[in-house]
Amino acid sequence: MKITIVGTGYVGLVTGTCFAEVGIEVVCVDIDIKKIDNLKKGISPIYEPGLDAMIARNVEKGKLHFSTDLPSCVNDSDVIFIAVGTPPDEDGSADLKYVLDVSRTVGQNMNHHILVVTKSTVPVGTAKKVRTAIQDELNQRGLNLEFDVASNPEFLKEGDAINDFMKPDRIVVGVESERAEEIMAKLYKPFTLNGHPVIFMDVPSAEMTKYAANAMLATKISFMNDIANLCEIVGADVNNVRKGIGSDTRIGTKFIYPGIGYGGSCFPKDVKALIKTADTVGYSMRILKAVEYVNDDQKSILFNKFVNYFEDNIKGLTVALWGLSFKPQTDDMREAPALVIIQKLLARGCKVKAYDPVAMHEAERRLGNNITYCKDQYETAKDADAIFLLTEWTEFRYPDWSEISNLVKKKVIFDGRNIYDRNELNKLGFDYFCIGVNTKV
Ligand SMILES: NC(=O)c1ccc[n+]([C@@H]2O[C@H](COP(=O)([O-])OP(=O)(O)OC[C@H]3O[C@@H](n4cnc5c(N)ncnc54)[C@H](O)[C@@H]3O)[C@@H](O)[C@H]2O)c1
Repeated sequence: MKITIVGTGYVGLVTGTCFAEVGIEVVCVDIDIKKIDNLKKGISPIYEPGLDAMIARNVEKGKLHFSTDLPSCVNDSDVIFIAVGTPPDEDGSADLKYVLDVSRTVGQNMNHHILVVTKSTVPVGTAKKVRTAIQDELNQRGLNLEFDVASNPEFLKEGDAINDFMKPDRIVVGVESERAEEIMAKLYKPFTLNGHPVIFMDVPSAEMTKYAANAMLATKISFMNDIANLCEIVGADVNNVRKGIGSDTRIGTKFIYPGIGYGGSCFPKDVKALIKTADTVGYSMRILKAVEYVNDDQKSILFNKFVNYFEDNIKGLTVALWGLSFKPQTDDMREAPALVIIQKLLARGCKVKAYDPVAMHEAERRLGNNITYCKDQYETAKDADAIFLLTEWTEFRYPDWSEISNLVKKKVIFDGRNIYDRNELNKLGFDYFCIGVNTKV
């Protein structure tokens, strides 16, 4: 079976590479010429553990190819996956421009049966629009060709994407025909041999499943952040509360860590898009509106603690930021809380020094010379009036605090991920503030 993956971003590149890894012939297509040129030279556009080696292996085996020419790939494919971006439109709804562009190109070029699969996160009803876009082009060409449309939302996590794809908890596939179901079952067979299920369903349910999953996870995070904020006021310790509730298997231990708000390319936009979908059909997603509201506030929480600590006199202070990506193991800074914090610090006349293990290029691309980029966490700490821990990279877990003590101008840590030990830091003379523990700022 030959497949084409359109869109060579976090999802498309991982999907294409993992399909190639199990022996399927794959072409990954993108309109970004530089991205494809780099991939042909073996340079990956993203940081994803294990991905570079897997790309190299499959390019060498002749299983994985890269191209910017979708029209020439269409008729070489049995299945075309659409994995392009679906960024939020101005009103929060998912912008389907890229998905429909690809659909039209498929319709303009196909000469045999193709299964077109949406892997991008798309609102309910998109598969229908994809079908119409392809059919319109076929009609214009006077062709009467059969084709199938399916929905196969992706659940991979950046940072552990290969594992998630190779050993998925589940694969969700929405189909409209037996033929599409057979093709998808065959395609995913290598990934299901170890018992990971493919859950077949109707297309609208598959499209909705992705949003419901992300919305549920975002809800857990905002719920826990709300509880954390209340813990601070009433004198409880959210770290204990988290352990207490996480041990209840109905709740579980995952996604209940308090922090500085969720970010990334998915939760913020998918929560917005689901709210918008509901609004357009006259239903209000009341819980999700609150989830978003809590999250927006939470991104400022560390900054607010810092302002209170310095009694509002923050102009000219130097702040060291440890971590910039929205979570560890990725260079993705889309909607990262760091961006909100940096903007607030700069607006109030602070100097910002930052270090992230992999997101430095991405930060430079976004922030230019507005902040100072450092080679490690120690360099950021030099002459700093405060340290903010923003991303819980493993290399930040055990800093040499005595060295940090000698470097900083003032000993105060704002820990946005609750990873440090207050007693240890207090003994060394640091003031320590985290999320969800009453510390009087
Ligand atoms: N990033 C994640 O963790 C994740 C997880 C699950 C689902 N998703 C969803 O998958 C989709 C893709 O996300 P991503 O993070 O990979 O996006 P991305 O922005 O990293 O990549 C999208 C790629 O599509 C390309 N593209 C746009 N229009 C094109 C066209 N007409 N032809 C060819 N290529 C085109 C862009 O150049 C870009 O390289 C989104 O809908 C997203 O919500 C993302």
